[in-house]
Amino acid sequence: MKQVLTKVVKWGQELLSEVVQPGDLVVDLTAGNGQDTLELFRFVGSTGQVIGFDIQTQALLATRDRMVSAGAQVRLHLHDIQLVPSEAGIDLLAISHTEIAKVLPAAPKGVIANLGYLPGGQLELVTRPESTVSALEQTCSLLQAGGRLAVVVYPGHPGGAEEGIAVTDFFTALDPVTFQVIQLQVSNRPQAPFLFVAEKTI
Ligand SMILES: C[S@@+](CC[C@H](N)C(=O)[O-])C[C@H]1O[C@@H](n2cnc3c(N)ncnc32)[C@H](O)[C@@H]1O
Repeated sequence: MKQVLTKVVKWGQELLSEVVQPGDLVVDLTAGNGQDTLELFRFVGSTGQVIGFDIQTQALLATRDRMVSAGAQVRLHLHDIQLVPSEAGIDLLAISHTEIAKVLPAAPKGVIANLGYLPGGQLELVTRPESTVSALEQTCSLLQAGGRLAVVVYPGHPGGAEEGIAVTDFFTALDPVTFQVIQLQVSNRPQAPFLFVAEKTI
């Protein structure tokens, strides 16, 4: 696929695809309309497990429809979430990503988060610094050695700049012995989304 240089969402997906294998467990912290979830499904295939979080039912329903159209087996969990380890398919969870450590059945190989708000959704249901950083902290503890976390930050909407600072502080403070971290930024457009990718080395 042709890569547009400044599309950092695509670079995040690409960098996850380097380490994620068919059959792996992967996570989308912000399922939204399901475009990242679909990419994760393509990486892990029909034997893998993709777990998607979102606090908006509207988003999860859109993701479910996208995944069903792609031929995936989808389980929508609106209440009483209990996930089965190594169960192939897509689990969509109607809870905050701050619950990740409580519900994840095993260590993930790849995790993605596309922050901000759902296009066409409620603007107040935007990701927020405190919950985002909590989810990222938990994710870094849970990640398999050799696994990667990709996060796209949108500084342009109200509250986005503050979230960008919190996420930048989080990644820059990660222990360099345990994590390799890169940041990809559009140098001549300060309001453009930017990407962090962390790889857990041990
Ligand atoms: C930019 S959208 C995600 C786009 C999506 N990855 C895609 O491919 O279409 C951000 C999503 O994060 C969700 N969100 C906001 N706060 C959340 C939280 N605490 N836990 C899980 N999802 C959250 C919003 O409901 C919204 O759907």
